[in-house]
Amino acid sequence: MIRLVGILVGLGFTFVVLLAFGSGALTVMGQGYLVEETAEHAFHEEAHMPAGGYSFDGLMPSWDLAQLQRGYQVYKEVCSACHSLDYVAFRDLAELGYSEAEVKAEAASWVVPGINPDTGEASTRPGMPTDYFPSPYANDIAAAAANNNAIPPDLSLMTKAREHGTAYVYSLLTGYQAPAAALVEEFPDSVPGPGLHHNPYFANLNLAMAPPLTSDGQVTYADGTEASVEQMATDVAAFLTWTAEPSLVDRVRLGWIVMGFLLFATILAWLAKKQVWANAKRKD
Ligand code: HEC
Repeated sequence: MIRLVGILVGLGFTFVVLLAFGSGALTVMGQGYLVEETAEHAFHEEAHMPAGGYSFDGLMPSWDLAQLQRGYQVYKEVCSACHSLDYVAFRDLAELGYSEAEVKAEAASWVVPGINPDTGEASTRPGMPTDYFPSPYANDIAAAAANNNAIPPDLSLMTKAREHGTAYVYSLLTGYQAPAAALVEEFPDSVPGPGLHHNPYFANLNLAMAPPLTSDGQVTYADGTEASVEQMATDVAAFLTWTAEPSLVDRVRLGWIVMGFLLFATILAWLAKKQVWANAKRKD
């Protein structure tokens, strides 16, 4: 009787596992179907990493602090005109290798909303390390009005919010180009309308952001690195990877430590089992 119950429970588990696998497989296949459904999708390109890759990509990640500082500079001098960075505070910049005094000076170089202590009216003041990065627009309506009705999204978590995060941001920034001739021929409607720009890495091929990085030397890097468009895109994508997951490097390192510990605990348990059962004899 017990054996029968055991078999039934086993069968039940197997059924649930198969069901879960089957529904997952169907979902994946369904996505494939949807992608093929829009024929324009053939002109969409997969995001790719910059040629040299990144120090934080792979099994032994680390942050390249000089690169993150350059990426921050690109954000500050270019992207911050339109994009907010709501979840990052100036004090977080200490993690990029800036000293306390540098963080203070950096914070003070930004203007944040404040209150006039004499009148109680809304005003502005220089930032402090505890402040968060200010938004470039008063609200979404102002943001949309200034950008052809598209609201520039907050960039703090962008590399987490899009498939192939870091590679996507890099590819998007370097991917602006004229629509392929075949696309124009097949889908005349897909040519970018007024205020839109063609980019095969963007989900629907045309977006409201004009190419933000257009010329080499647009930013003068504090560390003297040559600021090619490629370099600026590489660096700002690295910076946005850090803003989205500052603990990435620690997370992977901790993972290795936990794996090591689990391996050690397994060996210990196996030795203990051998020891405990060393003198036991089989009865049958
Ligand atoms: C002149 C304003 C402006 C500047 C400067 C700008 N952007 Fe944008 N950005 C936009 C707008 C508007 C959108 C929304 C586009 C849309 O949805 O069609 C956008 C969208 C994006 C997106 C999201 C695309 C998506 O998948 O939804 C990313 C990523 C991005 N910008 C990164 C950057 C980076 C990095 C910089 C700096 C190098 C930058 N932007 C500079 C206006 C700007």
